Amino acid sequence: MSNQITINADIAKGTINRNIYGHFSEHLGRCIYEGFWVGEDSVIPNTKGIRNDVVEALKKLNIPVLRWPGGCFADEYHWKDGIGPSEERKRMINTHWGGVVENNHFGTHEFLLLCEQLGCEPYISGNVGSGTVQEMSEWVEYMTFDGVSPMAELREKNGREKPWKLKYFGVGNENWGCGGNMRPEYYADLYRRYQTYVRNYGDNEIYRIACGPNVDDYKWMEVLMREAANKMDGISLHYYTVPKEWQDKGAATGFPEDEWAITLRKALWMEELITKHSAIMDQYDPEKRVGLIVDEWGTWFNTEPGTNPGFLYQQNSIRDALVAGLTLHIFHDHCDRVQMANIAQIVNVLQSVILTEGEKMLLTPTYHIFDMFKVHQDAELLDTHTTSARYEHGDEKLPQISVSASKAADGKIHISLCNLDHSAEADVSIALRGLGQGQKTIKGTVLAGAAIDSHNTFEQPNAVEPAAFTSFTWDGEKVSAKLPAMSVTVLELIEQ
Ligand code: AHR
Repeated sequence: MSNQITINADIAKGTINRNIYGHFSEHLGRCIYEGFWVGEDSVIPNTKGIRNDVVEALKKLNIPVLRWPGGCFADEYHWKDGIGPSEERKRMINTHWGGVVENNHFGTHEFLLLCEQLGCEPYISGNVGSGTVQEMSEWVEYMTFDGVSPMAELREKNGREKPWKLKYFGVGNENWGCGGNMRPEYYADLYRRYQTYVRNYGDNEIYRIACGPNVDDYKWMEVLMREAANKMDGISLHYYTVPKEWQDKGAATGFPEDEWAITLRKALWMEELITKHSAIMDQYDPEKRVGLIVDEWGTWFNTEPGTNPGFLYQQNSIRDALVAGLTLHIFHDHCDRVQMANIAQIVNVLQSVILTEGEKMLLTPTYHIFDMFKVHQDAELLDTHTTSARYEHGDEKLPQISVSASKAADGKIHISLCNLDHSAEADVSIALRGLGQGQKTIKGTVLAGAAIDSHNTFEQPNAVEPAAFTSFTWDGEKVSAKLPAMSVTVLELIEQ
């Protein structure tokens, strides 16, 4: 059976918030140190200590927003340790992640400089688990107060006279777990209290994000929405795709064939999670004012052999590219509720878009998906109906394809298509309705793998990279295409 798709180009279903294409960076392993921060004296070319190659590559993705400093690290982080002359900054143990010494050389100023270099919005996670209300309140004052105040003076003493603009602020992270092992009722009260002192200074308006549930903890969502919905702008959701068990998650490469389909099935669970959490949110917020912020998602595999298990370093293959494509499609479909998402994590940790090894750097298959899909940022989601063929492998029964279409402000239409099948091409027929008059042309780009774990290495950094896609015909109303096995394709339709 072939795959039948109908796209109504004249029916928009909502705007795909560009923040769905957000990223996450934690003081974990080699994400911050080496991934971004090398210091001004490094032989690695850098601007004020931040490496140039990584920033240049990331700028191409139009990253909208970057979350920092954690993660679990956030609820142990005391921001005052990370300001002032770097040689005088306090050293601490990063107890969550490998027990290494954190020298605090990368702090608030450095993070906000990184965001300036990337041209993205900062999203800062505050410390509820081990920090005080005063500490959180003063951090916001330090960053955003324009006037005479103790924190504004301290900021100026540290070399920054003008405040920064800061919109996104998370009040704690995983407070049901590493952020304090709290019950939802207790955290809901703490959230109400802490957020009171996260002030809007001048015209800086903060979008407050409450710590939301782990995976399918619907009770947590229910309690938070019931007790605090009117005091939040967003609530987070964390879900990672783990092929096997937490104790033995499965390898990032060299995995058996059945783990391909299992991984994609688990990635598709995001659809059910968002649907059910949204239904609870709808009861308390029918206007959909509060955003669902999926600020940690992605694959989580066993760490690479020979690396520090606390550093969560994993390779990234064409399977990760499929997980990224599928998940971004799910976020598009829920763009009425999902206002932001942050893949974990941007460099050298979990499902990264970039890996580094000293001065070497490579782009992962996931990077290429974010690059190919950036055309969907802020575009209008188009009404799309898909009848997919089945992809069956062992006990797994999945749809063969996943599709999403959007129309950008300049009128260009983009259709992204994932072929989940690891062994067969997908025949696809796309009827495009509501296009209006005028000649249209289509061009395509595809990312495909030769094997289920095709990936890029420092020796072969371009083994998996996008190529022109030409296996299609277009008669002005219908596209007939053959998608390679294990591939992600983006078609662009342009009015001539
Ligand atoms: O991303 C790694 C960790 O996963 C984060 O620190 C934590 O929030 C989550 O459990």
